Amino acid sequence: MPRAELLEAVKGAHGIVCMLSDKIDKEVIEAAGPNLKCISTLSVGFNHIDVDECKTRGIKIGNTPGVLTNATADLALSLLLATCRLIPQAVHEAKNGGWGTWKPMWLCGTELAGKTVGIVGMGRIGSAVAKRLRAFEIGRLLYSGRSEKPNAKELQAEFVDVDTLLREADIVVATCALAPETTNIFNADAFKKMKNTAILVNAARGACVDQDALVEALKAGEIKAAGLDVTTPEPLPTDHELFKLPNCVILPHIGSATDECRSIMAVMTAENCVKGISGEDMPAQVC
Ligand code: DGY
Repeated sequence: MPRAELLEAVKGAHGIVCMLSDKIDKEVIEAAGPNLKCISTLSVGFNHIDVDECKTRGIKIGNTPGVLTNATADLALSLLLATCRLIPQAVHEAKNGGWGTWKPMWLCGTELAGKTVGIVGMGRIGSAVAKRLRAFEIGRLLYSGRSEKPNAKELQAEFVDVDTLLREADIVVATCALAPETTNIFNADAFKKMKNTAILVNAARGACVDQDALVEALKAGEIKAAGLDVTTPEPLPTDHELFKLPNCVILPHIGSATDECRSIMAVMTAENCVKGISGEDMPAQVC
């Protein structure tokens, strides 16, 4: 919704249902006025909502955790495989006449078996990605985050600091929440620490990556490739440098985009809003 329309439409509202693309900041909250009891977002991420402002005013925030874990983990794996196996390039070549005689070293990618994979942010989605990766017979599974996870043992995942993860992983998957400590966590320094053969997959938030540094790292061969389901901004302008790089696969933020998942998310978002307006606890309440 265009900003001006949003500011107009929220006036007097008791509840706001929003998307992750709607910035719900102090201005919107003030435009809504004193009736506003709750904000319910059709997403698990809530970094687009001013949580502190809501807490100060006693406005409840609801989100959709859990129900998008499988869809988002499936997508992270799809993106990882697409990036490792050069799928977009291969589709392009097949369609556009690049498919000549069979060539032994043409469109050769990276395989997963035996590789060290590092997951930054082993929450619900990170764990679901880890489970799926085990089926691909990967080697070591490293993870970093705020604390060790009790389920890590069954996934044979090793808790390490981010620097170790960056240095040792062949494939790095970001599934962390956006927080001060994860903003630009993949920056020029990080890319220098990573292997030249490493592949980065971002299924978290665009702001976890310093995109200018990523462009440089991909051009200079500091890392081999990147797969991004999230960018800054969204949509990423079609003339952005990242779109020009053959070793960068970009998806339009479709992590949770399955019919099943989006339907459940929609119901949960509506339930959160109805409960929030009636002053009850929301099924999934952030604050
Ligand atoms: C979320 O919900 O936060 C995902 O990024 C999109 O579904």
